[in-house]
Amino acid sequence: MSVMRLIEDTGLIPVVSVAPEKAVDLGRALEAGGVPILEITFRREGAEKAIENVAKELPKVAVGAGTVLTLEQARMAVDAGARFIVAPGYDPDLVEFCLKKGVDVVPGVSTPSEVTTAMKAGLKVLKLFPAESIGGTRTLKDLAGPFQSIRFITTGGMSLENLGEYTRQKNVLAVGGSFMAPSALISAGDFEGITALTKTAVKEMFGFKLIHMGINAKDKDQAREWAMLMNALFDFPANETAISYFASTDIEIMSGGGRGEKGHIGIGTNCLKRALTWLEEKGYSPNLETARYDASGRMTFIYLDKDICGFAVHINQR
Ligand code: 3PG
Repeated sequence: MSVMRLIEDTGLIPVVSVAPEKAVDLGRALEAGGVPILEITFRREGAEKAIENVAKELPKVAVGAGTVLTLEQARMAVDAGARFIVAPGYDPDLVEFCLKKGVDVVPGVSTPSEVTTAMKAGLKVLKLFPAESIGGTRTLKDLAGPFQSIRFITTGGMSLENLGEYTRQKNVLAVGGSFMAPSALISAGDFEGITALTKTAVKEMFGFKLIHMGINAKDKDQAREWAMLMNALFDFPANETAISYFASTDIEIMSGGGRGEKGHIGIGTNCLKRALTWLEEKGYSPNLETARYDASGRMTFIYLDKDICGFAVHINQR
């Protein structure tokens, strides 16, 4: 699998500054937390040795180099086994060097002009940095209009609190940052803490959330009757749709022919495509005939192929 594909499928990139002798334990801790990716920055001595140790010891972890500011650093990183190169800014020489070497390069951009320059060089994935300081998800939405083919790895100010909102943006390939492996935990050698934090980050990235419950009525009359009952008892507003009545936005009463033995459950996520891979690994495949897409071709809705606890389950892109 290409490293960009792995990054897209994983959705998170831990950005770290780590001593060579701790790098392998750190890589293992992140992998155990569900993120087999590690960007080791050139912000301290020995970055190339740290990269080399991970590349040798952990073949399933994609190790890259971050904060690459010079061609010399890029050369050392590639020789050490870095599978991708990340830079805070846009340096055409660095980009050219990496492209010639055939190694994935993700230069930093923060303006439309830099995005344009990067596009001219043939790049499709860019680092938006420093994302929070330059307007965060608002900037991403603005860039999505003119630059429809570009996907961003957002870094700078990412946290457990905001990573879900970033993940939801259709032009975000992955969210990167130091929040999964903060320096304090690395210094303390608290690798279990890093695994726990990484698992929390994965959970926040998916952001699974109940959207509504579906109840199967036998026909439209019964669906209306039940919706009106909910309205009379609990003051839930009743709203008719082509196939159902909603009693508030939380309960959908199907007007006959509803899926599932008992009904259905709608669950939202920040990243539907990734969620489907996650669910597939657990034995629940998507029922592709039920997929819906938005105008840009992104999947927004799909049912799973089997019931859970007697309920059909559809997953929505939040
Ligand atoms: C980077 O190099 O990508 C950033 O410095 C990471 O930013 P953060 O420390 O705010 O996560």
